Amino acid sequence: MARKIIIDTDPGQDDAIAILLALASPEDLDVLAITAVAGNVPLPLTTVNSLKMVELAGRPEVPVYAGCDRPMVRPLITAEYVHGKTGLDGADLPEPVTPVGSGHAVDRIIELVAANPPGSVTLCPLGPLTNIGTALQRAPEIAGRLGEIVLMGGGFFEGGNTTATAEFNIYVDPQAADIVFRSGVPITVMSLDVTHRALMLPRHLDRLKAVGTPVAIAAHGLLTFYERYDIEKYGMEGGPLHDPCVIAHLLRPGLFDGRLINVTIEVESELTMGMTVADWWGMSARPRNARWMRRVDADGFFDLIVERLARL
Ligand code: RIB
Ligand code: CA
Repeated sequence: MARKIIIDTDPGQDDAIAILLALASPEDLDVLAITAVAGNVPLPLTTVNSLKMVELAGRPEVPVYAGCDRPMVRPLITAEYVHGKTGLDGADLPEPVTPVGSGHAVDRIIELVAANPPGSVTLCPLGPLTNIGTALQRAPEIAGRLGEIVLMGGGFFEGGNTTATAEFNIYVDPQAADIVFRSGVPITVMSLDVTHRALMLPRHLDRLKAVGTPVAIAAHGLLTFYERYDIEKYGMEGGPLHDPCVIAHLLRPGLFDGRLINVTIEVESELTMGMTVADWWGMSARPRNARWMRRVDADGFFDLIVERLARL
């Protein structure tokens, strides 16, 4: 029985690969909906980019809903400096013909969780947690019905990629993240601590290009554009493939390893705003609310991505 998931996303090239990976795996994942949120680029673009991905994957029946266009409290910050003006620079994709789904993504998330059996829906946030935090605030009862949240965000041993201490998804909406991490829903976190070990090396990108299909060529173009920022900034051999770690964990959990710990979000100090304080050594009495991943089998991860994208 395929696992029911909702992908909440701010495409973004790495989000795009995560969406393609999920849509290429219908025997494993039943994507109930894709919900767009403002993040890497503003909401109108993350919505269109989500539609571009369902069309590129040949899965236009998967509904895309537009969500929150700004964080719960703080002003929106975006990341065109990484993803380009469109959010999907690097591939020339046609404007989508598929209409966006009716209604607000937050309402759709609440409705889908209520309409499916308790514990059967997994939320997969790949961007700022605004839609999820808003849904939990508006309908707290969904916390008891959700199976799990598997998200990309945060960083502790790696520090931050937006401030010295904060990763982009959490920094954009720390209040929403605070609601999510206090919700009691089982959470698995793919933070920079693990995604910085999932680097797109030249040999991986060459394998993807050699697949030669329109999807693989588009994915290769997206990733070769996207990786330049992190390579220049960190001097890495390749760019970290953040968001696909979430979907890969659902498909092959054995690729990852981590620990159940307390994770608390900084929402007071401007100096450390949006920091994910990961109590890896159990120094506090705070509840162990999240599985914090730190290790990944990077070659196995990329084998999975190439194998699945080749199906589309
Ligand atoms: O910090 C990396 C995260 O922020 C990724 O999800 C990327 O797509 C951006 O949303
Ligand atoms: Ca993202």
